[in-house]
Amino acid sequence: MKITVVGSGFVGQTAAMRLVEKGLGEVCLIDIIEGKPEGIALDLKQAAAIEGYEPRIVGTNDYADTAGSDLVVITAGFPRQPGMSRMDLLSKNAAIMRDVIANVVPGSPDTIVIVVSNPLDEMTFLAARESGLPRERVFGMAGVLDSARLRWFIAEELGVSPNAVDAMTLGSHGDAMIALPRQATVNGTPLPELVDEATLQRLFQRTRDGGAEIVALLKAGSAYYAPSASVVAMALAIIRDTKDVLPVCAWTTGQYGISDVYVGVPARLGRGGVEEIVELDLNDEELGALREAAEGIRAKCADLATL
Ligand SMILES: NC(=O)c1ccc[n+]([C@@H]2O[C@H](COP(=O)([O-])OP(=O)(O)OC[C@H]3O[C@@H](n4cnc5c(N)ncnc54)[C@H](O)[C@@H]3O)[C@@H](O)[C@H]2O)c1
Repeated sequence: MKITVVGSGFVGQTAAMRLVEKGLGEVCLIDIIEGKPEGIALDLKQAAAIEGYEPRIVGTNDYADTAGSDLVVITAGFPRQPGMSRMDLLSKNAAIMRDVIANVVPGSPDTIVIVVSNPLDEMTFLAARESGLPRERVFGMAGVLDSARLRWFIAEELGVSPNAVDAMTLGSHGDAMIALPRQATVNGTPLPELVDEATLQRLFQRTRDGGAEIVALLKAGSAYYAPSASVVAMALAIIRDTKDVLPVCAWTTGQYGISDVYVGVPARLGRGGVEEIVELDLNDEELGALREAAEGIRAKCADLATL
């Protein structure tokens, strides 16, 4: 597998590091800043003898080097600064996304694309529209991250390992994120049996605000360790064709009564990309929230036409 990571900023370079360390394929790291991806690739090659991985990475500013990619991860774009919402990035990152797609897709017409740049749901739609690729091969990373954040907050609250916690979030990457208490478990016990409603709501709200909390602490830039781990979890499911079900910003075709919009839903990932959107048994409230999130994203995507 050849994996291109576009953008060698914090998320791109940590994703590249995890991909190389796990030996998931030949990694091509590209950025517009001269020397940056080359320097990171060289640094990662020099760590190979210590960490014991094969140094299968190239850093470049030339899109010709990305040709023949099986998977393209797009992290190019501005991150949030304190006080900014993800939506404040829309117009600047839309221009970057158009540029990236125009450059990367012609050389890799059979690729799968994972979008990471924010605002995530809208950038995923834009990448799909501009690329003309089949929609099951263009999707976004947000739900794996939001779910991991929720799992950590639950683990911290209950004093258990995050590995003992299962939880999934759906909807949009932002205020319309939907947590599913009935699906969340700790060592197999449903979460609502372990904490009261007020605690549940507090944990869900902290998850919704999870990115902003880190932005405020860092004071410059946004999270990247958990985001890059989330990207690589998706890449692994695709490359190893695991058919794992992960929360993914995927194109809907009638599932949950939602059509023709990208929104966070559980998706089976494999070598074909999104191979199935899995329909969980949601109650009316959860279903209503998911549909509302989808309509919010649809409206914002319509705004893209004016940019
Ligand atoms: N989906 C998520 O859950 C999630 C999580 C974290 C960050 N993000 C988003 O990912 C993006 C990257 O975050 P970061 O922290 O790595 O930012 P960063 O500023 O560290 O890196 C961005 C990189 O993109 C590069 N870039 C800009 N324009 C480019 C172009 N046209 N072609 C190629 N490269 C270009 C920049 O030179 C820079 O190196 C941001 O939009 C951020 O909001 C999303």
